[in-house]
Amino acid sequence: MYNSVTIKSKIKNFNKTIELSSDKSLSIRWALLASIALGKSRAFNLLNSDDVKSTLKVLKKLGVEINQDKKCCEIIGRGLNGFEFKKNLTLNTGNSGTLARLILGLLIRSPYKIKIIGDKSLSRRDFKRVIDPLNKFGVNFYPKNKTKLPLFIKGSDFIRPIYYEEKKGSAQCKSSVMLAALLSPGKTKIKAQKSRNHTELLFKELKIPIKIKTHKDIDLIELNSSNIKGFDYKLPGDISSSAFFIVLTLLTENSKLIIKNVNINPTRVGIINILNRMGAKIKFKNKKTYMGERIADISVKSCKNLKKINCPSKLNSSAIDEFLIIFLVAAKSKGISTFKKLSELNQKESPRLNIGSKILNMMGVKTILKKDSIKIFGNPNLKLNSFYNIKNFHKDHRVFMMCVIAGLALGGKWLINDKDSINSSFPDFFKKLKKLETND
Ligand code: S3P
Repeated sequence: MYNSVTIKSKIKNFNKTIELSSDKSLSIRWALLASIALGKSRAFNLLNSDDVKSTLKVLKKLGVEINQDKKCCEIIGRGLNGFEFKKNLTLNTGNSGTLARLILGLLIRSPYKIKIIGDKSLSRRDFKRVIDPLNKFGVNFYPKNKTKLPLFIKGSDFIRPIYYEEKKGSAQCKSSVMLAALLSPGKTKIKAQKSRNHTELLFKELKIPIKIKTHKDIDLIELNSSNIKGFDYKLPGDISSSAFFIVLTLLTENSKLIIKNVNINPTRVGIINILNRMGAKIKFKNKKTYMGERIADISVKSCKNLKKINCPSKLNSSAIDEFLIIFLVAAKSKGISTFKKLSELNQKESPRLNIGSKILNMMGVKTILKKDSIKIFGNPNLKLNSFYNIKNFHKDHRVFMMCVIAGLALGGKWLINDKDSINSSFPDFFKKLKKLETND
């Protein structure tokens, strides 16, 4: 069937070294910051996915010049308040929550109403989380009291800095406010639950006046507006895309994989921490620092003795995009695993906590699902031999890839719909899987 994939057998054992797609969070952040920098910025190895393409399209609509060939993407920045705002502008943010929330922070000075739209999945996601803090800067959203896309934003000439408490552990909310702070006079202060800190690291690299005090569960951030100069970036690999290959290796007998040049920012590697607590022996090699980010090669081997985890919720934010694939590991591990305080998982491209549980149940794995937690009854001898038809998952790229990995690692016959979903984050997913199967 067009736009579906069938998996008929498990993958054969492999021993490979590969490179995977570039980091999505960093690709989007590079483009947004380059667009408000002074002068030319270049990205090498920018992720060529739909979320990044949507970002570039939105910036072009705001008058930003972008030139691209296979190797390099060049953005000619327009400076801090340089966007070309036209009447009746509509910006389509596609499937990308990161783009939709972050770009709002850069529109706070628009003299006209701008319409923000997204695809069906993005249009069911919450925007109150960014509307509330951006309102405090002096921005208006329409229709009033609406919290989902489509929405209109109208900026103001009377922007004021804010104090903002970010309580969800959302890097998108934090980053949206940080970008708005760049266009605001005075000092913006943020008290944020821990979440990925790519924006902070980039701001520091770009010499933006920012102070960060780190405490156990929160970060205190203070920042002022500042011009930035164009900058070049060589994007490292994405740990969230690597996660699928890491788990495939863990669950496939006699296999070994090295994934080169991956971003191992400590605020992103919750999955490694969790899997190693479950008995995996995943290692980082050739560690280095680039543009404030930690980068390494990831080395992983098959593991026969995986055991349950009572997952500490302090790891939730650093593994937030990886829980579906972690649930698959829990299903094949000895004992009952518990994951708590995960309500944010139902706020993603699909309600992932619910859908993850449903897919495990289809596979014959018992779960106890509550509003924000799940218990997974693991079985190290789990083998699949039924037919699984996966549809109605809001075209969520990570649900799609989780099911492919389940079929390749555990068996069964799978018909998985909406293959195009992978274009959001990892268009090369199947091409890279093929590399594990070839003999070169
Ligand atoms: C992202 C932050 C996370 C994550 C998303 C990318 C980012 O979302 O799920 O895929 O690049 O800032 P939240 O900030 O909503 O948790």
